[in-house]
Amino acid sequence: MILCKTVAALQQEVKTAKNTNKTIGLVPTMGALHTGHASLIDAANKENDVVIVSIFVNPTQFGPNEDLESYPRTLEADCILAEKMGADIVFAPTPKEMYPSKDMTWVEVCGDITKVLCGATRPIHFRGVTTIVSKLFNLTQPDKSYFGQKDAQQVQVLTRMVKDLFLPVELRIMPIIREQDGLAKSSRNTYLSQKERVAALVLSKSLKNAEQLFANGQLNAQKIVEETTCMIKSEPLAQIDYVKIYAMPELTPIDGLLSGRNLLALAVKFGKTRLIDNTILEVK
Ligand code: PAJ
Repeated sequence: MILCKTVAALQQEVKTAKNTNKTIGLVPTMGALHTGHASLIDAANKENDVVIVSIFVNPTQFGPNEDLESYPRTLEADCILAEKMGADIVFAPTPKEMYPSKDMTWVEVCGDITKVLCGATRPIHFRGVTTIVSKLFNLTQPDKSYFGQKDAQQVQVLTRMVKDLFLPVELRIMPIIREQDGLAKSSRNTYLSQKERVAALVLSKSLKNAEQLFANGQLNAQKIVEETTCMIKSEPLAQIDYVKIYAMPELTPIDGLLSGRNLLALAVKFGKTRLIDNTILEVK
């Protein structure tokens, strides 16, 4: 496996792959890799000749009071896992490589899709995500790029971007990988104290409960949100940011009964750690 730390080195590798007609799979990450990331690399390995994993804690998607400084950085261990899962190239640039000038070119998806859910409390977040992912797409020219359903809104926003800009890349969306007890894998889980780690189980439990309600015929969006909120509130360490249902794919508000595909999404803080989780409720 090759580790590229500069744009120039990466471009050389991509050129070689393209010249030999190899298909390229890209897995963008911010590192601190876990089995959720590993599942994306594994999928990319099965479907492409060359797998590129990017590891970059992207400053432009963090707000001023967020965890940019403390975000875990574990490049050595990440390279070992990436190689084990079949990565051919790890691209781990510095911020200066990715943002060479103090002037900025932004790629931004406008509209409610970036303003609801995480966009409401993290107003610059998705602009940072779409900008860095565009740069990564341009550098790696992937045939396919892999993202996790764990970040459901990110998936919808990137899908919008690819469609609007006619980007020649297929987005492959992979299921949420969880710990055995149900907690969705996240690089931020390492911030949790033992008590918070136990408390955080209320997220997956409340989603399971909502899935059960829905399976039993509850189609009233408001009722599902209320019961899910109530269950999370019963956990004293949980501070709710949002519990919401929106219609897919544009994340439009729902008035009344569910139809089609719907995203039930949660963001909840445990101490200083903000966790997200979600499920899709599909009326067939
Ligand atoms: P990061 O949080 O490192 O996640 C990288 C990819 O791994 C994302 O597509 C995310 O949805 C996926 N992922 C994380 N946890 C997962 C889990 N439990 N199961 C399945 N997939 C999971 O998302 C980002 O980085 C950044 O915003 C990025 C797209 C790299 C742009 O900077």
